[in-house]
Amino acid sequence: MTRPLLSRRLAGLGTTIFAEMSELAVATGSVNLGQGFPDTDGPPEIARAAADAILAGRGNQYPPGAGIPELRAAIAEHQRRFYGWEVDPGTEVLVTAGATEAIAAALLALVEPGDEVIAFEPYYDSYSACIAMAGGVRVPVTLRAPGFRPDLEALRAAINARTRVILLNSPHNPTGAVFTRDELAVIAELAVRQDLLVISDEVYEHLVFSGEHLPIASLPGMSGRTATISSAAKTFSFTGWKIGWVTGSAEMVTAVRTTKQFLTFVSGGPFQYAIAQALALPEGYYQSVAADLRIKRDLMCDGLAEAGFEVYPPDGTYFVTTDVSRFGDADGLEFCRNLPARAGVVAIPMQVFYDNAEAGRPLVRFAFCKRKEVLADALARLSQLNSART
Ligand SMILES: Cc1ncc(COP(=O)(O)O)c(C=O)c1O
Repeated sequence: MTRPLLSRRLAGLGTTIFAEMSELAVATGSVNLGQGFPDTDGPPEIARAAADAILAGRGNQYPPGAGIPELRAAIAEHQRRFYGWEVDPGTEVLVTAGATEAIAAALLALVEPGDEVIAFEPYYDSYSACIAMAGGVRVPVTLRAPGFRPDLEALRAAINARTRVILLNSPHNPTGAVFTRDELAVIAELAVRQDLLVISDEVYEHLVFSGEHLPIASLPGMSGRTATISSAAKTFSFTGWKIGWVTGSAEMVTAVRTTKQFLTFVSGGPFQYAIAQALALPEGYYQSVAADLRIKRDLMCDGLAEAGFEVYPPDGTYFVTTDVSRFGDADGLEFCRNLPARAGVVAIPMQVFYDNAEAGRPLVRFAFCKRKEVLADALARLSQLNSART
């Protein structure tokens, strides 16, 4: 067999770093702050609602293609409650197998082969693969330390006649940047003027510590050209349930639904009932999620700074970016490969999320969506690293 099995479109796009680092964590007994998921589950009453749904025979057979009406209504109500945005649950909401499927379905629906898709790097690893699967061409615009603000001039310069989509992610994984209203307004203005579509990945919408999250779809001229994506994974700490959604115009939702139909068709019936209930949780729940994470963010940022890292505190998400140059390792990949042996902690080198690897070379990401005692243990271990250095 002379031809490689994997399609050329996808060659080199598989991310092996998470598997490599998780294996290292197990082999060395390290604290794993690489993986971006919580080590505690979401509200017990929501877990109970999923179990009850299964036992009561709700959602055990194929649910409706667009999602169960209860969940679509809850998503529409969520958009109204938090953003004053009126969404028709009948035609403007689509339930997906996590945000991951929503991203894939949106790109497959909206991108013709050869179309350019602009995304701010470093990016969530599925973006490159999904753009490639759609036959699109990814065009990175680089977010740079220390602030990781979107370079709007670079964005303007990246747009040309082949540009079809701007793929946004705010709050941004992995940098923790939350795009401001002014930044989003410029991006929206460019999209309107150049007649571009926007796919807006907002899975961290409720994990914001400073500033505010604003869906770009709510800005003038954007509602008809934006697919807004979110998910239950981060807000409710049920990452394994894979319940996500898209909201947008009826035309947009129909386009995305057409591809979603041939990916999974439907998924997670009983979980859809539980997440409908979760979305209706009172204000206090949403506030406590952000407040609890803010405490962990501060704990991590202070501890990492004390251990000798240069720290770029995030405004949102549950990741903190550091620069490891002070340890004499300007290469984050080497640093992360050695860190388990040196300190018994696992983190993720951010250069793997950049096309422009140079911009991400000294950057390392730590996840802080873990129990406080786990974070304290990791920080105690990392403080040894500092004393070994000095
Ligand atoms: C930016 C971003 N988008 C999407 C996802 C995937 O969300 P889901 O688990 O709902 O598929 C993640 C998960 O880490 C993420 O960080």
